[in-house]
Amino acid sequence: MSKHSILDQLYGRSMLLTQDWSTAELEALLTVATRMEKLDLKGKMPALLPNQLAYAMFFDNSTRTKSAWAGAASRLGMQPVIVDGSSTQVSHGETAAETGAMLGMNSHALGVRHDLILGEGNSFMRDVKDGIDSYLDATGNARKVPIVNLQCDIDHPTQAMADLMWLREHFGGPSSLRGKKIAVSWAYSPSYAKPLSVPQGLIMLLTRYGAEVTLAHPYGYDLLDMPMAAAKQNSQESGGSFRVTHNMDEAFEGAHAVYPKSWGPQALMLERVEANKRKDNAGMKDIEQRALALNAQHRDWICDESRMARTEGGKALYLHCLPADIGAEVSAGVMDLHKVNVAREAQKKVYIIMAMLAVAKVQGLAEKIGL
Ligand code: CP
Repeated sequence: MSKHSILDQLYGRSMLLTQDWSTAELEALLTVATRMEKLDLKGKMPALLPNQLAYAMFFDNSTRTKSAWAGAASRLGMQPVIVDGSSTQVSHGETAAETGAMLGMNSHALGVRHDLILGEGNSFMRDVKDGIDSYLDATGNARKVPIVNLQCDIDHPTQAMADLMWLREHFGGPSSLRGKKIAVSWAYSPSYAKPLSVPQGLIMLLTRYGAEVTLAHPYGYDLLDMPMAAAKQNSQESGGSFRVTHNMDEAFEGAHAVYPKSWGPQALMLERVEANKRKDNAGMKDIEQRALALNAQHRDWICDESRMARTEGGKALYLHCLPADIGAEVSAGVMDLHKVNVAREAQKKVYIIMAMLAVAKVQGLAEKIGL
């Protein structure tokens, strides 16, 4: 199937997990993102979606994704509308489907970040989508309102796709990840018990491209079964590999790229689900303190100069979704050396979101952007 016909079949498509998309569909998305980056940098990006509203609802803090959403929508000629999820009626029990119908009747695309509670974020997004689609069907409205996952409990698709785009640019093209050793590692954080979705998104996506992916974490910091199974299957299909170690040094040995970041201990993240259901705020605070105490047992899991020296030629590419805990997840020296790299990595997100919105919203996209 040609790239143009793949683009046609993406019309109306939501991005809820990269794993829901075929590799050919993700390839088409990357082709669009790369083209849009070129057009944007030349100041020649056409306003493809004038007078349309791009809502984004955030139930958690964000610097990069929120601004990338606004930047992407504006570059496409859309008007971004950022909604603070905690101030909506969801906190008073409004269902995800109702919320979807209400936002969907006024918007042309909807981004959602709902990443703090395991088992909730992605299913919330799917219920929001059902609410929007049911409303549009019931009112005979042919408008498409795609949902873009701006980070959930399982995946962070705009981040993982931006990381992939940056890795390919750094290593030299679409096939360049084949055989590359990439370490996705836990790292110590004293700040908060971070979601599991970034490492999960990375292991699901990078294993599709023939990379040799190593996941490293201390005991007790396992990722969810679904992304682990997907990573294993993807690596078998792509001819790459996927393995787990509990030794950060071993993961860094000979690596071409390293992605050390923190996430919360799984058992406590699951305990948090029940405390959240009970609206037990004291219980939630206690769980957070216990998670940080567990993290503190692994202060030596830091990406520092001595660990980077173990990588291929001592010169692996350092990646981080940001914000990084400097002095904990990464040494100040390593971050300083890679500060432009991580900024370039972050900048890819605006083009990935533009591509996600455009493939879902613009008919005849290939011709309109000169593909
Ligand atoms: N990496 C990332 O998603 O950053 P924000 O949390 O600031 O959006």
